[in-house]
Amino acid sequence: MSEGNRLKLWLATNLRWLWLLLKWFQRMSWRLGSREKVFAQIHRGRRWGSSESPSGGGSTPAETAAIRADLPLLLKRLGVSAMLDIPCGDFNWMKTLLPELQLTKYIGADILRDLVQRNHQRYGTATVDFIRLDAVSDVLPKVDLILCRDMLVHLPLRLGLRAVGNMQNSESTYLLATTFPSVVHNENIETGARRPLNLEAAPFNLGPPEYVMRESCADVPDKSLGLWRMPHAACRAE
Ligand SMILES: C[S@@+](CC[C@H](N)C(=O)[O-])C[C@H]1O[C@@H](n2cnc3c(N)ncnc32)[C@H](O)[C@@H]1O
Repeated sequence: MSEGNRLKLWLATNLRWLWLLLKWFQRMSWRLGSREKVFAQIHRGRRWGSSESPSGGGSTPAETAAIRADLPLLLKRLGVSAMLDIPCGDFNWMKTLLPELQLTKYIGADILRDLVQRNHQRYGTATVDFIRLDAVSDVLPKVDLILCRDMLVHLPLRLGLRAVGNMQNSESTYLLATTFPSVVHNENIETGARRPLNLEAAPFNLGPPEYVMRESCADVPDKSLGLWRMPHAACRAE
């Protein structure tokens, strides 16, 4: 058989697989791109409606007063020295609290490249690092505690579940995440919308948190940060 015929035969046999592979790559990059794009548009348009922070009213000093008072004590009690704050947003409230936390390593991560770069230029030090990470699909660093405030509430259940599974897979010790204990049924939404979520309820099923830190949120009284020890079998990623 000539070289030309051999090539034709190879193409005929493998073209369908190459085409499927190409489609898969396209779909994956579209999904990732679109996730980042949605949050970039929200940030750029200040669609979370706060003049104090593009990360929204929840990231202001007033709304974080209660957790800023409780976090240093909790982290000290748990012996946390390395923390991943995902998503870190614009670092608006954490920048004043961080010195009190006495961490040896703080990693702020967000899906928005520009935001992370800006944080890094303004606040980066030898012990304070900012990196671009997608909580749903990137490998996350192993730390003592992952703080995940106000992110899962903006993701569809399918992606939220993958993000929690991803955090479990990092082999970090604790997860401290936004939860609304009075919510009975977790509703599905489009990426970038918002609804309250209870991480004890399906599909997360994390069970009762070891500790619940109530936030000082004016319009949603049971907004809290729940503490879970990881890994939790119910939601470990495949
Ligand atoms: C409402 S802000 C909360 C920021 C911060 N946790 C706070 O308390 O101020 C939500 C942030 O989640 C980020 N985000 C959304 N999906 C993400 C993902 N899959 N991985 C990492 N960050 C994400 C957005 O870019 C945005 O900065």
